[in-house]
Amino acid sequence: MTRNHPKLDEDLYYEGVPDYMTEVYDWAYVDPKRVRLLDRNSVVKTLLFTNDQRLMQSYLDEITPGSRVWQVAHVYGDLVARAADKVGPAGAFHLTDITPIQIEHGSRKLAAKPWTRVVRADAAHWQAEDRPYDLICSFFLLHEVPEDKKYLIVNNILDQLPKGGKAVFVDYHRPHPLQPIGWLLRGVNAWLEPFAKALWDREICTYARNPAAFAWQKKTFFGGVYQRVVVTHA
Ligand SMILES: C[S@@+](CC[C@H](N)C(=O)[O-])C[C@H]1O[C@@H](n2cnc3c(N)ncnc32)[C@H](O)[C@@H]1O
Repeated sequence: MTRNHPKLDEDLYYEGVPDYMTEVYDWAYVDPKRVRLLDRNSVVKTLLFTNDQRLMQSYLDEITPGSRVWQVAHVYGDLVARAADKVGPAGAFHLTDITPIQIEHGSRKLAAKPWTRVVRADAAHWQAEDRPYDLICSFFLLHEVPEDKKYLIVNNILDQLPKGGKAVFVDYHRPHPLQPIGWLLRGVNAWLEPFAKALWDREICTYARNPAAFAWQKKTFFGGVYQRVVVTHA
C-alpha cells in the first residue's frame, strides 16, 4: 500500500519528472508551492468555465459501487475523493500520477479510504497487478501530453480493458465555430498548452491501435469545448 508519502526536499519533487511536465507545466503541476495554491475546487471551476460539476459527474456516473477503478492522473479539488467514495469499500480505487507533489496531494485526500491505492507511475505504462479494472478514467490528461505519449496512454488503457470493461476520457474538443470561448482557448493553447490543439483536430479513437475492437460513444459539452468519450470493450 502506497501511503503516508513524506514531504520531500524541493529537488526531489523534480526527480524523474518528464521534460514535458517541467518545461510546459512546472507552474501548474510540478512546483510544490504552486500546487499547494492551485489544488482546490474553485481553481478547477474557473479553468473549466464552471462546467466542472457536469464534466466530473459524467465520469462519476460511469462508476459502479464495488467495482475496480483506475484513475490515471490526479485532479485538483475533491474529484478523486468523490470517485473513491462512489467505488466504496467493497471495491478498489487506484490513482496514479507521474509527479511527486501530485502523489502527495492524492495520498492525503485518500488516506482515510483503505480501498484506495496511490502509486507514482506513468499512465502510459502502469499495469493492473491482480484482476483487471472495470473502469479506467483519464480526466483532462490527454491534452497535456505530447502526441507519442497520447498514443501510449490510450493504448495502455485499452489494452487493460477486459470484455465488458469501460474507459472514460474527459477532455478538450474542437469548439463549435460560434462558441466564443473557442477563440480564447486558441490563445491559451498557443501560449500555455501546446499539446491541447491535437484534440481539436482528431478524435480520441484515432490514437487506438485497434479501434474496431471497442464501441466508442462521444458526448460534447459547452458548445463542443469538452468531450466525454466512453469506450466499451464489447
Ligand atoms: C489530469 S491532468 C489535469 C487535470 C485538471 N486540469 C485539474 O484541474 O487538475 C494533470 C495531472 O496529470 C499528471 N500527469 C501528466 N503526465 C502524466 C502521465 N504520463 N502519467 C500520469 N500522470 C500524468 C500531472 O502530474 C497532473 O497531476
